[in-house]
Amino acid sequence: VANFLLTGLRSVEVGVPDLAASERFYREIWGLAAVARAGEAVYLRASGDAHHVLALYPRAKTELLSVTFSAAARGDVDAVAARVASCGGRVEASPGPVDEPGGGYGLTLRDPDGRRFRVVAGDARHGDGAPRPDFPERLAHVVLNATDVEAASRFMCDALGFRITDRTRMMNFIRTSSDHHSIAFARGHAATLHHIAFQVPSLESVMRGAGRLKDAGFPIEWGVGRHGPGHNVFAYFIAPDGLPIEYTAEVESVGDNYKVGAPEDWTWPPGRVDAWGISPPPSARLHEAQTRIVFA
Ligand SMILES: [Fe+2]
Repeated sequence: VANFLLTGLRSVEVGVPDLAASERFYREIWGLAAVARAGEAVYLRASGDAHHVLALYPRAKTELLSVTFSAAARGDVDAVAARVASCGGRVEASPGPVDEPGGGYGLTLRDPDGRRFRVVAGDARHGDGAPRPDFPERLAHVVLNATDVEAASRFMCDALGFRITDRTRMMNFIRTSSDHHSIAFARGHAATLHHIAFQVPSLESVMRGAGRLKDAGFPIEWGVGRHGPGHNVFAYFIAPDGLPIEYTAEVESVGDNYKVGAPEDWTWPPGRVDAWGISPPPSARLHEAQTRIVFA
């Protein structure tokens, strides 16, 4: 696989109105573990090597603070910084030491629509990473709504080195590694959060995770099913703080010779919303949750 400027998605930082309730949910039900605290913020890890995959900050309402990508070296952080302005974005914090648990050398930027992204190299990694059956290993992808999906995708490609993997009627899927996508942009009315997907080890893990959520009073809002683009298995839920979240597994790995799909390549037979043809459509609650959360 050709070199990408960034190596993948590391973490998502969110503000939540009831931090204790959110922390309890992500630890006891979703399957993350607290790895650090700083001030009032809590940093949660999955079973993989990323220092944390989710950071919770106390805020008046649930909001997206940033989406953080990993880079292999400091020079790659600097390379992104050098490209941002000419691509229509804005550097919010120039490359330098990251003052939070996990540390590293990082950059904070805003894309032309005001989405806040961070790029971090040299952050702490866990050496004890081992998949736990049925629990998250790492982030798989973040999907963001965009009024202009092509322009949002272009910024990610030009400034952060992503490539387009597939286009559908609803979304552009873009990648920064062999993962089919780390980010997707969905056609929407504002630059809001669509959902955050956590990778679990297997299809069995998606099923058992969904059962655990159901037992805890969190019904499946969409799924279980298998997506078209990316071919991943999915189950969607709404966290107590309103975040739309997904368990996913078996995401397709793609190489340089992947033929970029167009909307006409990705159609379902009438009545279908997943490749197996077993999933009911997404709930009205999920649709609503997927429009509500803005970038701070
Ligand atoms: Fe997803």
